[in-house]
Amino acid sequence: MRFEPLRYEHLRQMAEIEKEAFDMPWTETMFIPEVGSENATYVVGTRGEEVICYGGFHSVLDEAHITNIAVKSTERGKGIGRFLLATLIGKAREKGASTVSLEVKTTNKPAISLYESFGFKVAGVRKRYYNNLFDAYVMWLDLEGREQPDPR
Ligand SMILES: CC(C)(COP(=O)(O)OP(=O)(O)OC[C@H]1O[C@@H](n2cnc3c(N)ncnc32)[C@H](O)[C@@H]1OP(=O)(O)O)[C@@H](O)C(=O)NCCC(=O)NCCS
Repeated sequence: MRFEPLRYEHLRQMAEIEKEAFDMPWTETMFIPEVGSENATYVVGTRGEEVICYGGFHSVLDEAHITNIAVKSTERGKGIGRFLLATLIGKAREKGASTVSLEVKTTNKPAISLYESFGFKVAGVRKRYYNNLFDAYVMWLDLEGREQPDPR
């Protein structure tokens, strides 16, 4: 697998992975503005023509806000998500970010465990963030090592 920048050719397969991964999947159309956007950084893991995983963030001042991170269902549990997140954090550092943030469904144990293993901390809860039904944790990783209290 190799990582490459987001291209239009990736979007159809990414939308398929979104459908198997999320209750509120991004569509191909939703990804279009991300391609070549100045504030968006995406990496797509490919094997030949096949999209295996992807993730991206938006840079806002010194914060990198992760918008998407997903691994194709048949490829999970092999360390790819960990490699993908490490790559995104590396890119966020390169862009001068001092924090990385994201939202995650409070019931998404695999993702929360992955984020915690990188030092992400829960900074708050957004009630009914998904479909006006499911709560999300807001999680933060401080790249400068500053401590934050866990509000849970
Ligand atoms: C979350 C996700 C990206 C993890 O990708 P992955 O390639 O399966 O993860 P890895 O194999 O690299 O595992 C890394 C860590 O994630 C956690 N993890 C992965 N699968 C897990 C599971 N089934 N249960 C609990 N923790 C799990 C563990 O902490 C694991 O570390 P370990 O192997 O040392 O225990 C993947 O499950 C996915 O795409 N899920 C659907 C989309 C999603 O929920 N994205 C996050 C949105 S916020």
